[in-house]
Amino acid sequence: MGKIAFEQNQHPKQKPDQSKLGFGKHFTDHMFIMDYTDGKGWHDARIVPYAPIALEPSSMVFHYGQAVFEGLKAYKTSDNEILLFRPDKNMERLNKSNDRLSIPAIDEEFMIEAIKELVRVDADWIPVEEGTSLYIRPFIIATEPFLGVHASHNYMFIVILSPVGAYYAEGIQPVKINVESHYVRAVRGGMGSAKTAGNYAASLRAQVEAQESGYSQVLWLDGIEKKYIEEVGSMNVFFKVNGEVLTPELNGSILDGVTRNSIIALLKSWNVPVVERRVSIEELFEAHANGTLEEAFGTGTAAVISPIGELNWDDKNIVINEGNIGELSQRLYDTVTGIQRGTLADTLGWTV
Ligand code: COI
Repeated sequence: MGKIAFEQNQHPKQKPDQSKLGFGKHFTDHMFIMDYTDGKGWHDARIVPYAPIALEPSSMVFHYGQAVFEGLKAYKTSDNEILLFRPDKNMERLNKSNDRLSIPAIDEEFMIEAIKELVRVDADWIPVEEGTSLYIRPFIIATEPFLGVHASHNYMFIVILSPVGAYYAEGIQPVKINVESHYVRAVRGGMGSAKTAGNYAASLRAQVEAQESGYSQVLWLDGIEKKYIEEVGSMNVFFKVNGEVLTPELNGSILDGVTRNSIIALLKSWNVPVVERRVSIEELFEAHANGTLEEAFGTGTAAVISPIGELNWDDKNIVINEGNIGELSQRLYDTVTGIQRGTLADTLGWTV
């Protein structure tokens, strides 16, 4: 792979207003690209001006969806230091996704260095206002021009950067969620634990229907019995029931979220009981009925914590914590974002 070539963008763009960023709408001046060719491995690592890429219409990614991606964020501290949050976890997971999609593995250490280099080049794009960050989107696509179904022989690994604000317009205000009892996101043995484009494509129809009915997102149930909770929207999900925090165990169809992993570690470090196990939707509604369902929230890189204020399951509707953000959810949000931004001590050694 060797050194990373660099071509400076001679036409830098105007930077967006930090108070109106939204999520994933603006892109910086540079991107990282590296190619994979059978027999040659990953090669030609380069940082170049952000621009459209030319691909053959026959490129396999357009037809059979061989694509994986990651998401992580960079922050700038008040001393102008740049922090990344657990990039090793993202690169480790990327290789797990690669393995599931028959995409050749990447050199994790090299890619962490490449991401650092790209972020340094576009460091002026890192927003500093409260609730903002530089979202980093690494992704790999199959580029072999071929219509037979097999694992592609060529790939492109690209990293783009986007200055972002809150993922949901609601910010960390609790959202209304519909329990999806018709569509499923993934099944065990499928691709649910991989961060691959197809999982997100599979989720869209339910999201559209939920939004048409006034909900922000859906709560996914398992694809076999439609009984056990899996994820919420594109996030992992947690419930506080009678003082104990529950989250679905990683069963092969759930994404091993970096934020999920960090939340579990933080709760353990605070001696808050946290259990990874199967959680049925029925159990949750019963907990609500007997007054023990205290809090519910989604976790992910994009939104960090997204509290659930209301859950609708067929004709049953429950309001959690009177529709307000829970005390533990708020503490987790403040702690994770504080560590990420460097305003709180990084006691677990997560930022680099
Ligand atoms: C996350 O970071 O929570 C996500 O998975 C959202 C991303 C697909 C935009």
